[in-house]
Amino acid sequence: MQKITIVGTGRVGETTAQILAEEELCREVALLDVRSGVPEGIALDIFQTAPFFDFDTRLEGSNNPAVLVGSDLVIVTAGLPRKPGMSRSDVLEANVAILDGVLDSIQRWCPEAMVLVVSNPVDVLTYRAWQRLGGDRGRVFGQAGVLDASRMASFIAEETGLSTLDITTLVLGGHGDTMVPLPRFCTVNGIPVRHFISEEKMDRIIERTRSGGAEILALRKNSSAYDAPGASVAAMVDAISNNRRRVMPTVAILDGEYGEKDIAMGVPCILAEQGIESVVELDLNEEEMASFRSSVKAIRADLGRIPGK
Ligand code: 2OP
Repeated sequence: MQKITIVGTGRVGETTAQILAEEELCREVALLDVRSGVPEGIALDIFQTAPFFDFDTRLEGSNNPAVLVGSDLVIVTAGLPRKPGMSRSDVLEANVAILDGVLDSIQRWCPEAMVLVVSNPVDVLTYRAWQRLGGDRGRVFGQAGVLDASRMASFIAEETGLSTLDITTLVLGGHGDTMVPLPRFCTVNGIPVRHFISEEKMDRIIERTRSGGAEILALRKNSSAYDAPGASVAAMVDAISNNRRRVMPTVAILDGEYGEKDIAMGVPCILAEQGIESVVELDLNEEEMASFRSSVKAIRADLGRIPGK
């Protein structure tokens, strides 16, 4: 990709920018933020790491939405973060209003760009982005499951002492209390994870995965997680930028898949140069499907709170 613009330079935006630059996932990273001087300062700071990390990616920061021109991909991290004790849904109204402004700018300056939503509540905001931008649903998507699955993998690695390199996990559904970690699809180098972990321990890992973001927020107090979220976004960008056709849990607009329509939520998708190439439909068992439906219900309740487009 030639150019990626990150909208919102809080910690997630900044961490993402650093990784995209270091890994040269595009020629140019633009940072857009409403705070005066901040995106310019971050762009300079990150570019000054180039001699250490050997990259040629260029960075530019701006308060002017015109910086979006020429973007192949826009990553939206702008929004109010939640405070300890708040759920992701508690910032819904405020973040829909912020997102709507960003979408107007995308519509004006780079209407052809792919859009990757990171701000919370990510399922609702991804749907909102597609509702307002329209067009091909494969080019508007969100990040959640890659992060949730990485948390689950880290907990399995801690529990078993095994390498994260061998651990594959899958988490679908909404990015909230009703997310759907799927132990049946988790393996250690192809071996079902149940071979290494008792059901009871796995249940604890599932619960800890569901509250993985809240656990970090409660510990840090004045900041949500940003290292793993930034790395998760970068992993998705890498799949797209290198046209890898990786299968990654992605917040996708559903149009009949899993029996759902007019909703965005985490499902496995093939990510390639055009964004989502297709949604992978899994044969979920009754219990998994019931969890998936609870997640649908929670997201639909939140979708009911957003204003008409
Ligand atoms: C997280 O799970 C903030 O939603 C983000 O850490």
